[in-house]
Amino acid sequence: MASKTRKPSKTKEITPVEKAKTTATVDENDDGLDLVEQEQEARIVTEEQLDEPTIEDLPGVGPATAEKLREAGFDELLAIAVMTASALADAAELGEAVASKIIQSAKKMANIGGFLSGGQLLERRRKVMKLQSQVESLDALLGGGFETQALIEVYGAFGSGKTQIAHQLAVNCTLPVDQGGFDGDVFYIDTEDTFRPERIMQMSRGLDLDPDEVLERIHVARAYNSDHQMLLIDEIKRMSKGMNVKLIVVDSLTGHFRAEYIGRGMLADRQQKLNRHLKDLKQIADINNALILVTNQVHSKPDAMWGDPTKPVGGHILAHASTFRLYLRKAKGGRRIVRLVDSPNLPEGECVMEVIEDGLRD
Ligand SMILES: Nc1ncnc2c1ncn2[C@@H]1O[C@H](COP(=O)(O)OP(=O)(O)O)[C@@H](O)[C@H]1O
Ligand SMILES: [Mg+2]
Repeated sequence: MASKTRKPSKTKEITPVEKAKTTATVDENDDGLDLVEQEQEARIVTEEQLDEPTIEDLPGVGPATAEKLREAGFDELLAIAVMTASALADAAELGEAVASKIIQSAKKMANIGGFLSGGQLLERRRKVMKLQSQVESLDALLGGGFETQALIEVYGAFGSGKTQIAHQLAVNCTLPVDQGGFDGDVFYIDTEDTFRPERIMQMSRGLDLDPDEVLERIHVARAYNSDHQMLLIDEIKRMSKGMNVKLIVVDSLTGHFRAEYIGRGMLADRQQKLNRHLKDLKQIADINNALILVTNQVHSKPDAMWGDPTKPVGGHILAHASTFRLYLRKAKGGRRIVRLVDSPNLPEGECVMEVIEDGLRD
């Protein structure tokens, strides 16, 4: 076990890259964004355009068509390039001739991506590490633990234990590799103000670790709104040089997006930003051979915008981005049922765990 020699220290805080704008309650009918917001919007869009062409770059696609495409989930050229004209016309409510023209242009402009040999892919897969939750049945459900190079989504109702899992994995990440950890640093984006150093200390003691040493390796930032949340990813990139970043937690991924983007008119915008955010996160996972853990709520009440009350928020964009999805629910006697919902190479299944003072246990 780790030595207990380090002096006490506080959990580090990331300094925001720039002062975040305060969360505004967005009124669908109010297009009077103030100047700061407009600038911020413009900068994000500019950055996006630097990366690769967007659907607005397609000849004949104006803002209205772009909006239709985005609402139908087509925010990338490649997604459009692989469609048939009739399917795209149906999905995005366009004329078939228009859809056909858009597809032809998207084929020319899309970045189709390169081929890797099976051997190269295997080499990449060999680097995958597995972070153990130390809950045997949960690790077994995941084929040995939480994989790096992956985005894992934990969703469930309020109080189901999402934040507990996030805290436990943050602690475990600091464990030596031969004890199922990554001997790694953690970045933790807290959007709901539910990160508690005290809880980290309890869980550290539960594993015989020095709480101060563990806190030293967990870098926490509070995100005040969705733009701030996205900016913090840049801050992670900047701060993480020279660190062994192995786990990035976003708890909750969708909370701000959900609160800020209300009404149908904002759906396309929200999905575009969420998509961008997820891509940024995945890039960090790839570069650092790290694991991304995001939490997500289920719909508490049905409405036109957010749909089915038993489904996770974030729609298919998040569903596609997640490598593994875990659905948490409360059971009798304070126990939690964890269901593996989606996985590229593992069967669906369930396990039961408990949350106690020491942390998560079988
Ligand atoms: N120190 C503790 N000892 C035992 N159980 C705890 C402790 N701290 C939190 N819990 C349990 O975790 C629950 C909160 O789970 P949480 O992860 O915050 O839910 P979510 O993030 O899904 O809303 C509490 O209701 C309680 O049952
Ligand atoms: Mg929580």
